[in-house]
Amino acid sequence: MRDYSEVTEQIAAVLDGEPNRTARLATIACLLNLAFEDYFWTGFYMVDPDKPDELVVGPYQGTLGCLRIAFGRGVCGTAAATRQTQLVEDVHAFPGHIACDAATNSEVVVPVFDGETLIGVLDVDSTKPAAFSDHDARALERIAAMVAC
Ligand code: SME
Repeated sequence: MRDYSEVTEQIAAVLDGEPNRTARLATIACLLNLAFEDYFWTGFYMVDPDKPDELVVGPYQGTLGCLRIAFGRGVCGTAAATRQTQLVEDVHAFPGHIACDAATNSEVVVPVFDGETLIGVLDVDSTKPAAFSDHDARALERIAAMVAC
């Protein structure tokens, strides 16, 4: 079971006093990616203010991500459309999964809110099958809640 306590404290310390959203997103993606070596792709898809039913890629660490994902498509689009965390043990079995990188086998995607408003999703992918559990999902939900300030 991954221990998120140190990285959560580190994120809180670095973000303290920084109001810029891009800086906050980039810092979270970087520190999470550094904390866990089996995180293969770590980052954000944000709701496009010009197309509110579409996600556009935000700060991330990893291989090239797709630029845009429609609400309801793939794991990220499902998390956005349902506003619910998606924990996927085998992405190849997930209807409509978007294979930005074929090396990904499992992923967890948690919605990111500012108050009641959905502003994006935090997506973590692994090359290992079933790499994430409810424990990861809950810890990442807590970290996603640190985006808004
Ligand atoms: N796998 C995601 C797409 C984004 S990337 O993997 C970086 C999905 O199906 O939502």
